[in-house]
Amino acid sequence: MLNTYAQGHITKLIRNGNYFQFIVDDKPYLIFGGELGNSSASSSEYMRPIWPKLKAMNLNTVIAPVYWELMEPIEGKFDFSLVDSLLKNACLNKMKLVLLWFGTWKNSMSCYAPAWIKTDEKRFPRSEDVNGIKQEIMTPFDRNILESDKRAFVKLMKHIKQTDNKQNTVITVQVENEIGMLPSARTHDEAANKVFEQAVPLQLINYLIKHKGALEPGVRSLWEKNGFKTAGSWEDIFGKGLFTDEIFMAWYYAKYANEIAAAGKAVYDLPMYVNAALNRPGWKPGLYPSGGPIPHVMDIWKAGAPVLDMMAPDIYFPDFEHWANLYDRHELEDREVANPLFIPEIRFEKGDDAKAFFAFGNYNCLSFSPFSIQSTDHPQTEPIGKTYSILQQISNLITTYQPRRQVAGFLLSKDSSTTTDTMANYRVTVKHDYTLGWSAAAKKDTWPLSGCIVIQVAPDEFYVAGTGVVITFQSVVPGKRAGFLRIDEGKFENKKWIAGRRMNGDQDHQGRHVRIPADDYGIQRVKLYQY
Ligand code: DGJ
Repeated sequence: MLNTYAQGHITKLIRNGNYFQFIVDDKPYLIFGGELGNSSASSSEYMRPIWPKLKAMNLNTVIAPVYWELMEPIEGKFDFSLVDSLLKNACLNKMKLVLLWFGTWKNSMSCYAPAWIKTDEKRFPRSEDVNGIKQEIMTPFDRNILESDKRAFVKLMKHIKQTDNKQNTVITVQVENEIGMLPSARTHDEAANKVFEQAVPLQLINYLIKHKGALEPGVRSLWEKNGFKTAGSWEDIFGKGLFTDEIFMAWYYAKYANEIAAAGKAVYDLPMYVNAALNRPGWKPGLYPSGGPIPHVMDIWKAGAPVLDMMAPDIYFPDFEHWANLYDRHELEDREVANPLFIPEIRFEKGDDAKAFFAFGNYNCLSFSPFSIQSTDHPQTEPIGKTYSILQQISNLITTYQPRRQVAGFLLSKDSSTTTDTMANYRVTVKHDYTLGWSAAAKKDTWPLSGCIVIQVAPDEFYVAGTGVVITFQSVVPGKRAGFLRIDEGKFENKKWIAGRRMNGDQDHQGRHVRIPADDYGIQRVKLYQY
């Protein structure tokens, strides 16, 4: 059934220096992806016209759900036809897959639990809010739901192993989706209330002690306020309040996801992660999904779910850098606490093209993926597709030079129109294209985001790739100045550089800068000298 595209070994997540890297088909791999809208993959027919769209946008990976209710409509009877259709079409289109296990929870709720679970409340008890009102949310304190989810997930992983262990189309799996408790900070069902009175497990206490100096400030300050106690109930250790309720939920959600992931990995050891609905700044737990793998309780998740390879943000709020900074913990050497930036979802909007350049250049970013990617009506001209076309060409440069710290990423807006970094013997200054004032659009109140990646491949040689940027290089050697020997526009074909135009004269402002205009997407190879 499947073609022989890209045979290799099972995908691994390794560390190269402090950098995390996916090794897919035996090579480092970055996900230039898109996530399908929730219901798209529930019909292969509906998906038919979508595949060419994804191809037109140069995705190398599709992030797609697997729905428990459709995969196990009757208890113990499994239907993998939708998964098989994803595998087949991804293969035909030379794309990889990230599968999302819509199991016990999807955006807090248990809407993807099969009917035989939803309708058997006795066997599968629900979470309750602070007033004891039952929610359509399975409680993590019940073994029956956990065992049923685990059984189904293991079946899924076995199926992937059987059908995909030669093609390696599936490269990672998300366990559940946006776990978190609503509308109260914790569930108040009977089983949960009992556990809440019990001692905080030693596994968590030991983690807190071991990482005391590096804990996220929220958890640390609650623990500190209560005297850094090392034994006692949740309220003894963290005090009474909504954040303690959230820490409690985070721990038991993490344990739950860990158990599911461990069982899945035992049959087919793919990297696995969980994604987070981010906490709206200033809101209280329970108003946002409480206890998910969000930044201020990430330590609790790291402690409770060591089997998970990554915690990932779904970025729908503004201030991309703020959220990306919180999830990129690759510099922490200790694997127990470190985390690469993996973005399974980002709002599909203007500016994603620039953010993607910045993400892969500035962070240890393994995935960028606008949500509801199929929704575009103009895939051929979609800006993210233009960015992906370029990123695919330079992907191996990024993964080669990033662990050597020779890659930088830049993101520019009207409010933050200049940014700079030092690379080898050069101070690299990147400005928004509109700072030149050459375009009529520069007079507008808002400017489109622009961004680029700069890769240093030799002491005086760089590739720059991006959109809407003007780049200057200054020597950091005292008494020296920098000049351009040559700037070539070009492209990579099978990793080989094919030079196009020589970018001199007006194109480099007579030797003053490198420029990729706004609305343009390109790669330029820059050779400098010092005098
Ligand atoms: C985040 C969820 O993870 C997605 O499945 C989807 O519901 C989006 N939100 C909708 O914005």
